[in-house]
Amino acid sequence: MTDDIILKFANAEILINDTAYNKLSVQKNSLELADSLLDDLLRNQRDVFIVTEDILDRYLQDQGQVSNYGSDADINSIVNNIIVSENPSKAIKPPQSKLMPNVPFDFQIVKDASKKSYTSGEIKDFSAYFNSRFQKIKGLLSKKGELKESYPIKDLVNMNDNVRIIGMVNDIRTTKNNHKIMELEDETGYTNVLIHNDNQKLFESSDKIVRDEVIGINGIKKGNLVIASELIQPGVPRIEDKEMDFSAVFISDVHIGSSTFLEDAFKRFVNWINGDFGDEEKREVANDVRYLVIAGDLVDGIGVYPNQEKELTIKDIYGQYEEAARLLGDIEDVKIIIAPGNHDACRLAEPQPAIPESYAGDLYKLKNAEFVSNPSVVSLEGINTLIYHGRSFDDLVMTVNGMSHERTDLVMKELLEKRHLAPIYGERTPLASEFEDHLVIEDVPDIFHTGHVHINAYRRYKGIHMINSGTFQSQTEFQKIYNIVPTCAEVPVLNRGTMKIFKFN
Ligand SMILES: [Fe+2]
Repeated sequence: MTDDIILKFANAEILINDTAYNKLSVQKNSLELADSLLDDLLRNQRDVFIVTEDILDRYLQDQGQVSNYGSDADINSIVNNIIVSENPSKAIKPPQSKLMPNVPFDFQIVKDASKKSYTSGEIKDFSAYFNSRFQKIKGLLSKKGELKESYPIKDLVNMNDNVRIIGMVNDIRTTKNNHKIMELEDETGYTNVLIHNDNQKLFESSDKIVRDEVIGINGIKKGNLVIASELIQPGVPRIEDKEMDFSAVFISDVHIGSSTFLEDAFKRFVNWINGDFGDEEKREVANDVRYLVIAGDLVDGIGVYPNQEKELTIKDIYGQYEEAARLLGDIEDVKIIIAPGNHDACRLAEPQPAIPESYAGDLYKLKNAEFVSNPSVVSLEGINTLIYHGRSFDDLVMTVNGMSHERTDLVMKELLEKRHLAPIYGERTPLASEFEDHLVIEDVPDIFHTGHVHINAYRRYKGIHMINSGTFQSQTEFQKIYNIVPTCAEVPVLNRGTMKIFKFN
């Protein structure tokens, strides 16, 4: 029994001093007492270093008075006696393994547009929307040294020297002499900016500029033109590595209800996440998984494209979500975060609110499911995760040379640099003209997770994990025509900060 008590404390990485140990070991039900004390300390996630006689005494005393451990009174009585490690960064953290089901999820929805989206559909909303985008990104650009003192465009009239401006790109085109001309607008006026092909590096970098993005320009005013010498994007700083003492799984584009949905592979995936499938390494990682993020297109939907019903095994949307609830309902001890995509039963215009309960009642009954908008930001134990389905990839791939559906890492990097998830307005990505632009990337995430193109991609960019998850749908007729080869049932897992791909096909 003696060894068992010590073992329990050792497993919880909490020390117990000799006097406390001696006192605890002679108590009736000493093992159960050790369990409940540790449970209480861990549940409150304090940086406990050592359990002393005082802590034990207070705990034993309170045992008789408080029946419901975890109440505020209980927490305080224990916290008052806790010795906190002197160096908080080295403080011992409670283990995050799901083998300890009592460890609560440290999960938060940081940003969600579900209840914040308003529009009356009037012209003034349209300008309010662009103004919101402009002001948010201008705020980011203004902090950059090169643009600290930028001028309103209307003031350029009286200038004939070096100028610094911030504006939204109304148009960018190649002239007949193979230079580029860009019309830039701010809230005070318009100007034309010339990007001369003599400046080869600048000229090449301008290939990635798209309509409606907000950028800064350093240049020289000549007549009615500004000759650009520098193009400045808001960009992202290199972020610090955060310690990640758990694993998270990222999927999207499951397409439940489609005749090409890979049900067997998905069931193997669910078995793995529960620790019941795969080799030893796979099972060990599964044991460490705390979160499953689904970045849209959980179901195939109905009426998404012409004649879709011929490719559906479940032909109504309620049935598709019921099936999704049945499959995901087998997942234990993992929080499931569900965002919508363009196949889900949501309005198509982004930001898409969370999948409504009226369509997905059974999913909402799952105790471990959370529903968020597209896009959204969630915190997984302090790791900020930006979730976006990825519809705007279609627009970027069509507009910018060198980008493709196979290399979404290039697109994701560019979206981060532009600090906007869907910069081009009015193409294939429907954007709601709301009072606020919710697609601006205001805060730099630790993880940027997308889907939509059905092809895996991963890259660490300035410390940010950029993850594009593939699909659980085999190659569709549409994909055959365009020679798109999907990554089926190959799942990205961020295992304590290291990317691993696990195959279930
Ligand atoms: Fe999609």
